[in-house]
Amino acid sequence: MSVQAQPTAATAARTTNQATSTIGLKVVMAVTGLALFGFVIGHMLGNLQVYLPRGVDGVWALDAYGKFLRELGHGGGIWVARAGLLAALVLHLGAAWALTRRSWAARPVKYRQWNAKQSTYASRTMRVSGPLIFLFVVYHLMHLTWGNVHHDYRVGAVHHNVTTGLAQPLAAGVYVVAMLALGIHLYHGIWSLLQTLGLSQPRYENLRRGAAGALAALVVVGNVSIPIAALAGWLPA
Ligand code: HEM
Repeated sequence: MSVQAQPTAATAARTTNQATSTIGLKVVMAVTGLALFGFVIGHMLGNLQVYLPRGVDGVWALDAYGKFLRELGHGGGIWVARAGLLAALVLHLGAAWALTRRSWAARPVKYRQWNAKQSTYASRTMRVSGPLIFLFVVYHLMHLTWGNVHHDYRVGAVHHNVTTGLAQPLAAGVYVVAMLALGIHLYHGIWSLLQTLGLSQPRYENLRRGAAGALAALVVVGNVSIPIAALAGWLPA
């Protein structure tokens, strides 16, 4: 005769706590992801000013925008924004790491096989694209903020730094590949964010995929256009 182990109150409580903290981690991922996405959109809209000509004062639109942001810094505003961005990034990476460890430790659950496969594929893609984006941001800061990997960096001359920096084929290639990784990351991220925020029923699947695809495509097209235009010599110089 086989004796089946019954879950004790302690095991049930542990399972409930784990489920609650997994939901908590997903909420942290969603909220910080949304903040980082907000930055990416705002940053892209700012950078698209590279297509604009010089103003009547002879100053490039992108340089005037850069100066405006630096002046915000004197009042401390930009440092508050940078600290918020860094905190969002650290929390996003920390929650991603905790969720990854949790999924490695979990028993494979066999029911709803298609769904399990789908989410494994999505999380695998996130674990490759996420570190690639992180490496890109380090390179990007060295390229356009600190200038140590830029062949002709000039302090404060943002338009010059972008147009000449991205006219280099190797640098342009890095940006294009990184933006594709960002697009894939955003696609899965927005799709899963919409699930976490409550649009989890199967009838919303097309809406989730459509919204995620449209927003990710917007970011990829807007950002990739800049290195391509720089390489082709289409940016005002
Ligand atoms: C073609 C695409 C992009 C262009 C042309 C671009 C351009 C720039 C430029 C010119 C700066 C330096 C501004 C200055 O110091 O005066 C900058 C800073 C920065 N960029 Fe980008 N960027 C691009 C994409 C991205 C993406 C996709 C991310 C994030 C995933 C990103 C993250 C940052 C960060 C974190 C900074 C530092 C902001 C600060 O000063 O605190 N950039 N970018």
